[in-house]
Amino acid sequence: MAAELDKDTVAKAYARWAPIYDLVFGAVFDRGRKASIAAAERTGGHILEVGVGTGLSLPDYSRTNRLTGIDLSAPMLRKAKARAVEHRLTNVDGLAVMDAQHLGFRDGVFDVVVAQYVITAVPDPEATLDEFVRVVKPGGEIILVNHLGAEGGLRSSFEQGFAPLARRLGWRPEFRWDRLAQWAARHGGVSVLERRAMPPLGHFSLIRFARLSSRASEPLAAVAGGAGP
Ligand SMILES: C[S@@+](CC[C@H](N)C(=O)[O-])C[C@H]1O[C@@H](n2cnc3c(N)ncnc32)[C@H](O)[C@@H]1O
Repeated sequence: MAAELDKDTVAKAYARWAPIYDLVFGAVFDRGRKASIAAAERTGGHILEVGVGTGLSLPDYSRTNRLTGIDLSAPMLRKAKARAVEHRLTNVDGLAVMDAQHLGFRDGVFDVVVAQYVITAVPDPEATLDEFVRVVKPGGEIILVNHLGAEGGLRSSFEQGFAPLARRLGWRPEFRWDRLAQWAARHGGVSVLERRAMPPLGHFSLIRFARLSSRASEPLAAVAGGAGP
C-alpha cells in the first residue's frame, strides 16, 4: 500500500505545479468545475471554495454569490489573487492560505462548501470532510468533484501501481467511492444527495452531501417539505 500524503509533500508538489497548472489542468477539469458551480449556485449565498488553487473557477460563479477561497499552497493562491484582480471579482470576500483540515471559520457560516479535485489530495480526507460539515449551515451542501478509483479490473490495478509515484505529485488515484460512503455513514450528520459520473471518461464524479439539521435525521429541506434554505 502506498504511503499516506502529508502536508509538506502536498505543499511542495503544488509549489512545483503552480507555474504550469492552468496549462495542464485548466481545460481537462473544466466540465467538472462548471458542473460543481452550477450545483453550488442552486443553493447560492456564501460559498467556500476549499483548495481553490489558481482560482480557475472564480470567474464562472455568478456575481450574486459571495466567495471565499482557501488553499494550502501560497504559490497557487497568488495566481488566484491575480485572477480575482484581473477579472474584478468584487464578490470574492477573501483568498487565504489555510489548511482544509483546520479551517479558521466559525461553525455553520457557509451556505455551500465546494472542493474541486481536492479531497484525494489532502492528508486526511475524513477529518477534512468533518471540517467541511462543521462550517456549513444545517441544510447547506458540500459539493465535491473528483477522480475516484475504479472498483476493480485493469484500471484499478493501474491506479494501485501508480499510487506511490502519484503521492509525490500530490494525489491518491486509488481513492474509491466507498471511502466517502463509509465516512458519511459514520459521521451521521450528512446525507448523500447525488453521485454523478463526469468526463473525462466517467472516471470523475460529482458528489453532493446535505448537512442534516441534526445527526442521523432528515435533511432540513426534506423536513421543511422540500423548500430550499
Ligand atoms: C488538483 S488541485 C485543484 C485546484 C482547483 N480546485 C482546480 O479545480 O483546479 C488541488 C488543490 O488542493 C490544494 N490542497 C491540497 N491539500 C490541501 C489542504 N490540506 N488544505 C488546503 N488546500 C489543499 C492544493 O494546494 C491544490 O491547489
